[in-house]
Amino acid sequence: MSQGDIGEVQAIDSSSSFHSPWSKKVWLEEFRNPLSHCYIAKYRGEKNREEIIGFIFFRIVGEESELLNIGVHPKERLKGIGKRLMNFYIDYCKERGVKSFFLEVSVNNLSAFHLYQTFHYQIVGTRKKFYSGEVDALLMRRSI
Ligand SMILES: CC(C)(COP(=O)(O)OP(=O)(O)OC[C@H]1O[C@@H](n2cnc3c(N)ncnc32)[C@H](O)[C@@H]1OP(=O)(O)O)[C@@H](O)C(=O)NCCC(=O)NCCS
Repeated sequence: MSQGDIGEVQAIDSSSSFHSPWSKKVWLEEFRNPLSHCYIAKYRGEKNREEIIGFIFFRIVGEESELLNIGVHPKERLKGIGKRLMNFYIDYCKERGVKSFFLEVSVNNLSAFHLYQTFHYQIVGTRKKFYSGEVDALLMRRSI
């Protein structure tokens, strides 16, 4: 991902109703954070025109990684792109010695929860009123 992709990525993120979308400032800070890793999925359509259809942001600190954000363009969902992004993420981290994976997900976000379960994440805790001071988050962990 390059800095110029932030606008398109932000638009995909804004389509999610399960968390408050990150502001441009937050995207930029995360993009510039040396611990963060930011990747996008692109689709090459007619006339070789490229379109961003998904993204994944995560941090790696020692042997642990935290998934910060993942999103797929609404018109491209349920086509396996989320799974491809997660496969990429897990392989990328394993190659760098990561042994534990963490994330938070809204209790209402069944599609993301299902995706994470597919990758053997398990619920290890709850963060009360984590989203907008209202909705609880599940803390999930996956060990290698
Ligand atoms: C969560 C998200 C990234 C999944 O991406 P996707 O490309 O649609 O997912 P995939 O097509 O790879 O599906 C992965 C698995 O999740 C399941 N799944 C995805 N959406 C689902 C839904 N709405 N209901 C039930 N299962 C769902 C799929 O069936 C598949 O499971 P299977 O292999 O057992 O069939 C996408 O829905 C999204 O961008 N949501 C908005 C952003 C968001 O909530 N991000 C998570 C922040 S914590």
